[in-house]
Amino acid sequence: MLLRRKWCVAAVTAIILFLMLASQSIQRRQFLPLALAPPNSRAPPTGRETAYWFTVVKPTAPHADPTPSPPSTIQPDAEEDEEGEEVEVEKMEAQLIDDSEDNLKQCGCSKSCISDLDGSDWFSQRYDPKQQPILRAKDNILDPYALAWWLSLQRSGNDQTLQKVMSEMFKVISPPTVDFRPLPSRCRSCAVVGNSGNLRHSGNGNLINSHGFVIRMNKAMTRGFEKDVGNRTTHHFLYPESAVDIDHGVSLVLLPFKLRDLEWLTSALSTGQVKMTYMRVKERVEADRDKVLVVNPVFFKYVHDRWTEHHGRYPSTGMLAIIFALHTCDQVSVFGYGADKQGNWHHYWEENRYAGAFRKTGVHSADFETQVIHQLAKEGKISLYL
Ligand SMILES: *[C@@H]1O[C@H](CO)[C@@H](O)[C@H](O)[C@H]1NC(C)=O
Repeated sequence: MLLRRKWCVAAVTAIILFLMLASQSIQRRQFLPLALAPPNSRAPPTGRETAYWFTVVKPTAPHADPTPSPPSTIQPDAEEDEEGEEVEVEKMEAQLIDDSEDNLKQCGCSKSCISDLDGSDWFSQRYDPKQQPILRAKDNILDPYALAWWLSLQRSGNDQTLQKVMSEMFKVISPPTVDFRPLPSRCRSCAVVGNSGNLRHSGNGNLINSHGFVIRMNKAMTRGFEKDVGNRTTHHFLYPESAVDIDHGVSLVLLPFKLRDLEWLTSALSTGQVKMTYMRVKERVEADRDKVLVVNPVFFKYVHDRWTEHHGRYPSTGMLAIIFALHTCDQVSVFGYGADKQGNWHHYWEENRYAGAFRKTGVHSADFETQVIHQLAKEGKISLYL
């Protein structure tokens, strides 16, 4: 009797244990794929997908792009993967077999995305997706070696520290909220518009306007040249010595070549007390303070190391703008770079006053930069309009 009761208790315990284990394993099987699979993904997750998902999405970072993107001709292609289940399975298997090939598209463009690193070794060797092109109000990862190099570019007797100057600056400008990382749901096309005379009579105005972002630089103007250069601007790159007033709604993007440039920005948008860098500069600048962006000094070093490969003392505005676009856009078209058809180097808004001036500058290497831009076009990473 006692033995039988003991046996009963043991059996019931065993059944309860079995049920608990079984229900746990069912839960795990149902729960894990739901938690780890990216939304909209119909395929079962693999370790690779999981890793991709976690690198691309940080839970703390906002994903919404607060900059209203004007309609782009290249629409996000949501229906891209309307293929049969079998194709999906085949793709998955191919991925499992060849782990080095990443078939997952980073952006929503129907053609390729710039950040997809398959297909061009030349590009992959240079492009570092971890670079942060924009200076943030905090949590910047600033390599001290790169900073030391940057501080030596244009010395300007300065006893403030970068931290101090930055904290003053972010009291005047808003911390950037734009997230530039690629999203599977978006296809961001950008036009980078240089100021070359080759834009004259190009008739590229409408084409330039059709891009999501239109990036211009330095003294760029559009009035009177709309047919050739368009009339939209979303981002205007400048530095103190090249500054102009920026239209309402446009992002001023500061390219800081020295610490003084950050102080100038703070001043130009508030008190106007900074009047000099190495020359007299514009004391005040009109621009939306909540749209101002500052290029990360460490990004200069990255472009110098990986893209212009130490040709010239540091990269030019034009070069920096193109590499910036490669890190913030999914597709890039480049206009207004290089000489015009007669071989003259001048701006599209002026007659041939400064022929040859740009090319002969000792600071940048126009020849090497031109070579890099042509190679980017050859590798299919940019569309180059000459
Ligand atoms: C550009 O030009 C078009 C056509 O003339 C006009 O409708 C539009 O408002 C202009 N946009 C800007 C930003 O000036």
